[in-house]
Amino acid sequence: MIRYIFATATIVFSAITMSGEEISMLAPEKSAGAPVMEALANRRSIRNFSEKELSRQQLGNILWAAKGQNRPDGRQTAPSCRNLQEIKLFVFDKNGVSEYMPSTHSLRHVVDGDYRNLVAAGQESVNVAPVSIVMIADMSKFDKIDERALMMASADAGIVSENISVACAGLGFATVPRGMMKSAEIITLLNLPENHIAILNNPVGFEFETK
Ligand SMILES: Cc1cc2nc3c(=O)[nH]c(=O)nc-3n(C[C@H](O)[C@H](O)[C@H](O)COP(=O)(O)O)c2cc1C
Repeated sequence: MIRYIFATATIVFSAITMSGEEISMLAPEKSAGAPVMEALANRRSIRNFSEKELSRQQLGNILWAAKGQNRPDGRQTAPSCRNLQEIKLFVFDKNGVSEYMPSTHSLRHVVDGDYRNLVAAGQESVNVAPVSIVMIADMSKFDKIDERALMMASADAGIVSENISVACAGLGFATVPRGMMKSAEIITLLNLPENHIAILNNPVGFEFETK
């Protein structure tokens, strides 16, 4: 598998990536940002984004906070039901969609093209965000797909989303947890099996200051 390490500080998925290729993210800055209580004090939903892009480092920090590997045994910053780790993270930006791979802290290119509108689903203010992170549950990880499994997957997605929200609050980025998105179209776009469900998303970027 080919890995590219780009020297540039700017984002992220250049046109040279092809489906399945991985881009290593820079190591997460584990001392960055405000203390956790201050981050919680600042957390709020922000829906007005500027077009300013995140750097690769900034995006990597957020993805690691969301569900990065934080222990040698493969466990992650986000707990999950029976450690099933059924939530997959997909990053939509103006160039394409990539999947975050926690074990290698890398992005695996999935598809070219700007599909952020499938995530925004008509909420135009969030369509401006440079990236949208989509939480998709791989329900095949559960023994059976029943109401309980759907509840656990929703809880797990909510935890990942809140990790993103708290990280953004602490690091000075804008985000909002969202249920709205074109879920079926996203599953089709990403060529995922039917047992995958898009549960939540977080557009991430910088707040558009109106003053
Ligand atoms: C599960 C969930 C789904 C949400 N879906 C949306 C959404 O689709 N669009 C949106 O603008 N906000 C959405 N929100 C954000 C809520 O509207 C917001 O959290 C709430 O108004 C409280 O505001 P606060 O986050 O600033 O405390 C969602 C929040 C949660 C927890």
